[in-house]
Amino acid sequence: MRRLIEQDEIQQRVHTLGEELSELYRGKNLTVIGALTGCMLFMADLVRAIDVPHRIGVVEASSYRGATTRPGELTVDLGLMPDIRGRDVLMIDDIFDTGNTMEKLVAALQCCEPASIRTVALLIKEGRSEVDMKPDFFCFRIPDVFVIGYGLDYNDDYRHLPFIGVLDEADLEQAQVT
Ligand code: IMP
Ligand code: MG
Repeated sequence: MRRLIEQDEIQQRVHTLGEELSELYRGKNLTVIGALTGCMLFMADLVRAIDVPHRIGVVEASSYRGATTRPGELTVDLGLMPDIRGRDVLMIDDIFDTGNTMEKLVAALQCCEPASIRTVALLIKEGRSEVDMKPDFFCFRIPDVFVIGYGLDYNDDYRHLPFIGVLDEADLEQAQVT
């Protein structure tokens, strides 16, 4: 595995984004909604960097099944989400790859009649988008590589790492053996 984005770089960028979002949502009825499971570390840090009162909730979105690095079938489950009717929603995902997950999440949330929806992705993978939208906010642009850490997984491993690393072909072959 090689390292792509170090812990202190992530922390700095998340803090700056938190300040920007605090200004934007001051006086609003903000609800931050994270897409499980990849959002967990990013969301925990970002909400602590947003210094205006807000609610937190989660939805379940999954496009990867087990030991694959390309999207599988996409499912969205709103069962855990609090009521967002009339509220200003900030939707958080770990990475915007093809964009299909983010697009589907926004469409699903729209049905609950929030006052507004904006989107934020920790990472945007370059040259992969298949949709018309892009996140309103993001932290880092990355090349088309498979990344893990800071919430992102390969077959549910590596999510706990405080930095973002790249799994190259050889690493992926190794991971499949172990
Ligand atoms: P999209 O629908 O193609 O944009 O995929 C978004 C979802 O795919 C993310 O929420 C991640 O769970 C997963 N994903 C995409 N690229 C990566 C990656 O490089 N590493 C780990 N997960 C990824
Ligand atoms: Mg995900």
